[in-house]
Amino acid sequence: PTLLLVNGPNLSRLGHREPTIYGNETLPQVVDRIRQLAAQQGVSVLDMQSNSEGALIDFLQENAPMANGIILNPGAFAHYSYALRDCLSDVGSYCPIVEVHISNVHQREAFRHESVLAAVVTGQIVGLGTTGYDLAANYLISVIVRGKS
Ligand code: DQA
Repeated sequence: PTLLLVNGPNLSRLGHREPTIYGNETLPQVVDRIRQLAAQQGVSVLDMQSNSEGALIDFLQENAPMANGIILNPGAFAHYSYALRDCLSDVGSYCPIVEVHISNVHQREAFRHESVLAAVVTGQIVGLGTTGYDLAANYLISVIVRGKS
């Protein structure tokens, strides 16, 4: 089984960008940790990060059909990308999708309070720091191992 670990714009800067909001851990560190966590359960991880909407959609269209779950931090695209929403609405027929936000978007600027993706993902993890990725992975692995409950 395979999990997709997808990060959108500016998450390439994780660990360097606004550390008081997003913490000190870098994206490669997060990816390594999730890869190890998944490997312990016999699950592999295909990761990608892009700053561009089209590249994220291309990756999801290409890889979701063979995936067993998707962890997605869409960055700011969460708040306004109807193209990404339409893509998730489509590829969500292949596997569950967990939307992760590192920061508590509800405590921040008003434009961050809405996710236009929320209605088409399986669930969201918000405000729990980079641990949110681990929680998303554990959920998806549990679905893979013992089915949805
Ligand atoms: C974010 C929250 C978004 O509002 C922001 O644009 C990001 C990161 C988060 O992980 O907290 O880039 O998705």
